[in-house]
This record gives sequence, C-alpha cells and structure tokens, in this order.
Amino acid sequence: MTKTLLITGGASGIGAETARRAAARGYNVAINYRTRDTEAKAIAASILANGGQAIALPGDMAREADIVRLFEETERALGPITHLVNSAGISTGPGRVDAYDAGALAHLFAVNVIGLMLCCREAAKRMSTKHGGPGGHRGGAIVNVSSMAATLGGRLGSSAYAASKGAVDAFTKGFAREAASEGIRVNSIRPGMVLSEMTERRLQDAAFRAHIEASIPMRRVGQGHEIAEAILWLLSDEASFITGAMLDAAGGGYII
Ligand SMILES: NC(=O)c1ccc[n+]([C@@H]2O[C@H](COP(=O)([O-])OP(=O)(O)OC[C@H]3O[C@@H](n4cnc5c(N)ncnc54)[C@H](OP(=O)(O)O)[C@@H]3O)[C@@H](O)[C@H]2O)c1
Repeated sequence: MTKTLLITGGASGIGAETARRAAARGYNVAINYRTRDTEAKAIAASILANGGQAIALPGDMAREADIVRLFEETERALGPITHLVNSAGISTGPGRVDAYDAGALAHLFAVNVIGLMLCCREAAKRMSTKHGGPGGHRGGAIVNVSSMAATLGGRLGSSAYAASKGAVDAFTKGFAREAASEGIRVNSIRPGMVLSEMTERRLQDAAFRAHIEASIPMRRVGQGHEIAEAILWLLSDEASFITGAMLDAAGGGYII
C-alpha cells in the first residue's frame, strides 16, 4: 500500500526530522511550512534525489482556508493521505498569567489547538471508513505533537502553552475514541525539552541549559531524531493496537 504522510510544520525541528526519516522508510511526504520556503524545498529535493516522493507546500495552520487547500494539494500531488503528523506549533506566548494578552492567547490557541483540530477534521474526512476517501483508501494514523508541559502545567511562565498542549491531549483522546471503529488511530507524543529552532536560542545560555538539564532525570535535553523515531513508531503498523495514547518522550519527565 502507498503511504502518504502530511507533516505540518515540517521544515524544521521535529517535523523536519520526521519528514526525512519517513521518506527513508518509503512514505511519500508532504512538507507543510509557513515561512521556511527554502528549508522545506531543500528537504523535498533531497528526498527526491534519494528516489523518494515529496512536495513542499506553504500554509498557515492558523487559517482554515490554508488547511483545506493543504490537504487538497497534498492529495493532488501524492495521492490519498494515509498518515498525518501535526507538528506545527508555537511556544512564544503570553508569559505569566498577570501579563496575558487576549490577542496573543487567541493566536496561540489558533495554531496549537484549532489548526491541529481542523487538520484532524480534514484527515478524518479522508481516512474514515465512514466517509471513504479518494482512491477508495480506508483508515489511517495520526500523531499530534503535544508536550510534557501538558502534564505539569509547564515550566514557570508557560501556563498558556501548557494549556494549549493539554487541549491537544484531551482532543486526541476524544477523537481517537470517536474514530477507533473507523480505521483511524490517533495518538499524541509529549516531548520534553528538545534542541530545535524553538529552544536553541534559550539553550545557548549555559546557565539556563544547566538548570533545565538538572531538572530532567536523564540529565540532558532531547534531540529531534529521538522524537521523530517515536512518532514514526506510533504511525507504523507496529503500533496497530495503540490509539488515544500519550507517549512521553522526555528523558524521564521533569521536576519543577
Ligand atoms: N522543542 C521542544 O522542546 C518541544 C517540546 C515539546 C513540544 N514541542 C512541540 O514540537 C512541535 C515542533 O516544534 P520544534 O521543537 O520542532 O520547533 P520548531 O523547529 O520551531 O518547529 C515548529 C514549526 O512549526 C511551524 N509553524 C509555526 N506556526 C505555524 C503555522 N501557523 N502554520 C504552519 N507552520 C507553523 C514553524 O514554522 P515558522 O517558523 O515558519 O512559523 C516551525 O517550522 C511544536 O508543536 C512544539 O510545541 C517542542
């Protein structure tokens, strides 16, 4: 069976690692990006050069019209979508509660929660045995990228981000149960602190990094490929009885 994977936020960090490794395992890969045109096209070009199938597609996951178009364009280019990874996300946020800004909160939830839910809607319409799909494809697997922040309310000043990821986990559980009898598996992965574009600037501060690493039982931050491997396992048939699960990929969690 042809496997076609759409990855939102696929031009950097965890999404990009997942794209490269998925292509090496035979997935056709659609790499969504917002601003990283050059990076997304470079990843697609290297997959094509290695004999795989890939396309880079722009789209802002805070905009419904972009999401709908992204799914249509992926299908046109690569065929029925069988797998989805929602990795697009932002962490810059409103900080402490007394500094919350309504517009910033709305944007955070538009990207991290509503955009992800609408991507799942588009996937469900195509993957569910209830709806069928182009090419007669049935079933599929989805991984939503949550965060360990969802478990403890996040590190200090990250309560809004943590709330958005808590919503991702609750949604994942509900959607997974709804879609379980329709051939769709949905799981979330909860990375701990991972070195990526999202965190590298803060982690360059040696004191900050030491503080973070001291709070992690494995005493180190994670790497993108360590999260990508876990995502690929959740997507794979090897995880065929797993749905509605939250997988912590976090070096043992963290202490605050
Ligand atoms: N790194 C960590 O420590 C960590 C820990 C736990 C969870 N996570 C989660 O892991 C996921 C991936 O993050 P990462 O660590 O790989 O960092 P990253 O490299 O910053 O990746 C996030 C990607 O999402 C894209 N994105 C942001 N807003 C978007 C939008 N509106 N539409 C489409 N794409 C958008 C970004 O592209 P632009 O820059 O062009 O917007 C970027 O390529 C996120 O959901 C994040 O919350 C990360």
